[in-house]
Amino acid sequence: MTLEIRSEQPADIAAISAVTTAAFKTAPHSSGTEARIIEGLRAAGALTLSLVAVDQDEIIGHAAFSPISIADVQEDWYGLGPVSISLEHQGQGIGQLLIRAGLERLRSLQAAGCVVLGDPRYYQRFGFVSDPALTYGGDPSPYFQRLILNGPPAAGDVSYHSAFEA
Ligand SMILES: CC(C)(COP(=O)(O)OP(=O)(O)OC[C@H]1O[C@@H](n2cnc3c(N)ncnc32)[C@H](O)[C@@H]1OP(=O)(O)O)[C@@H](O)C(=O)NCCC(=O)NCCS
Repeated sequence: MTLEIRSEQPADIAAISAVTTAAFKTAPHSSGTEARIIEGLRAAGALTLSLVAVDQDEIIGHAAFSPISIADVQEDWYGLGPVSISLEHQGQGIGQLLIRAGLERLRSLQAAGCVVLGDPRYYQRFGFVSDPALTYGGDPSPYFQRLILNGPPAAGDVSYHSAFEA
């Protein structure tokens, strides 16, 4: 395997949608709209980071990062997701490589922090923790987690980009 993590290029777009649709087909808690969300973010210029994992010219994974608002204010915080690894490549550390690469890029963009909605058993390894002061949908939840990158913690209720209502 010759794995490369890089930003998406125009020629990758169809493969990103295909990998995302396939990965979420059997995933628990899937809305079935994840590929459309990525397309909506891209169309709105809100795909801050769109990283692909490439093995010998094949896209085998993807991670999206987009701006969020906290208490209706854009605070230089970002949301991670959707993230997808093609079924035959799951469980080989590729998701972790993509997520770590994205978080490093956010850090160097001076982002204040990143949130994620997902299983804490997976996301805690990156330093994500649930913070009762930073909520999604009004209530604290162990599944909604944040990682501070630069600066102080944030407080309030989080809204994702409207593309997530796809
Ligand atoms: C979740 C996903 C992105 C993880 O990527 P991956 O490359 O398969 O995972 P990695 O190889 O980096 O990590 C493997 C580890 O994560 C754990 N893991 C993987 N998916 C997990 C999940 N959904 N919940 C909890 N733990 C998970 C594995 O048990 C393993 O743990 P270990 O290191 O303690 O043995 C990938 O499995 C996927 O695309 N799933 C379908 C889509 C999805 O659910 N996306 C996430 C929601 S936005």
